[in-house]
Amino acid sequence: KEAQAVPGGVMTLSRYMLDQARINTDYQDLEQLMGSIQYACKTIANLVSRAGISDLTGLQGDGGSVNVQGEEQKKLDVISNDVLKNALRSSGKLGVIASEEEDTPVLVEEAFNSKFVAVFDPLDGSSNIDAAISTGTIFGIFEETEECIVDDDADMDEASQVCLLNTLQPGGSLVAAGYCMYSSSTILVFTMGDGVNGFTLDPQIGEFVMTHPNIQVPKRGKIYSFNEANSPDWPENLQTYVTDLKNGDGESGEKYSSRYIGSMVGDVHRTLLYGGIFGYPGDINNPNGKLRLLYEGAPMAFICEQAGGMATTGTQRVMDINPEKVHQRVPTYLGSAEDVTELINALKKEK
Ligand code: AHG
Ligand code: MN
Ligand code: MN
Ligand code: MN
Repeated sequence: KEAQAVPGGVMTLSRYMLDQARINTDYQDLEQLMGSIQYACKTIANLVSRAGISDLTGLQGDGGSVNVQGEEQKKLDVISNDVLKNALRSSGKLGVIASEEEDTPVLVEEAFNSKFVAVFDPLDGSSNIDAAISTGTIFGIFEETEECIVDDDADMDEASQVCLLNTLQPGGSLVAAGYCMYSSSTILVFTMGDGVNGFTLDPQIGEFVMTHPNIQVPKRGKIYSFNEANSPDWPENLQTYVTDLKNGDGESGEKYSSRYIGSMVGDVHRTLLYGGIFGYPGDINNPNGKLRLLYEGAPMAFICEQAGGMATTGTQRVMDINPEKVHQRVPTYLGSAEDVTELINALKKEK
């Protein structure tokens, strides 16, 4: 199954997907879908890099605007959502899409041969955007379980119910997931359930080229990545776990470093490459933390596991959770297998 670059050639993402589709015809539809996704990511990368020049920083609308979860939307949250939505629509491969910036799942009328359901976070880490700090896009692809009814006679309530159910699938049903990070480089990392590959956008040729084949998370790292300002409200066992890492009293005996951007994509990307643990715990005020299962937790869990790491809520595999709501939040910890296992055991300890 491994797609190799011909000598002297460059393995672009487009070529990689063509090769995969040739080897396995099941991937033909995904290949077209990935074409739309990489086009959207290139467009968003360009908008993000020009945000300060093109007046794309700041909040959406005059009086501001909030998404259904009560978060203030940035201009670029809304634009990125439109870019992705339009790109996915034009692929013709999608029946329904769910996004952080949409109240409910949206039916894709243009689907002529719908097969997939896409869930996405169009711009992750958007609070960092005005300071030109790294942001990203996260996406997950499921197969449609039952086609949404879109003809004129359709009962729309029934149709939206089918669409909604299509999006409420566990991470274990994802057929593909990925993220694109907009940072000093634009890097697209994704999996189709057969390992993880990373592609860097070469601005000179406008193509993503394979730079990170078969990413493997180190078995153990020396970095923890949590918003530690919330630590007074964390469960006591978690506070002890982090204190131990700081003092070199954890299982590895190493003193850990702290790194936290506040952009999940950036924090997860570093965790995949350097190892360690990233998390957004539940706390007294927010028992389920902040990260959304469908378009943040589950796709990142799929990628992390495919790279040999682990992803847990503390008590359960993130991939095993059956979502009940589109914007459902879930405590999420992911990263190096040994670090995540140590955390799970630490959370179980009797006080
Ligand atoms: P988004 O910008 O898509 O709403 O996601 C923000 C998330 C995630 O990127 C990050 O890990 C987390 O929020 C940061 O939250 P805190 O500012 O509370 O640390
Ligand atoms: Mn948001
Ligand atoms: Mn996000
Ligand atoms: Mn977002």
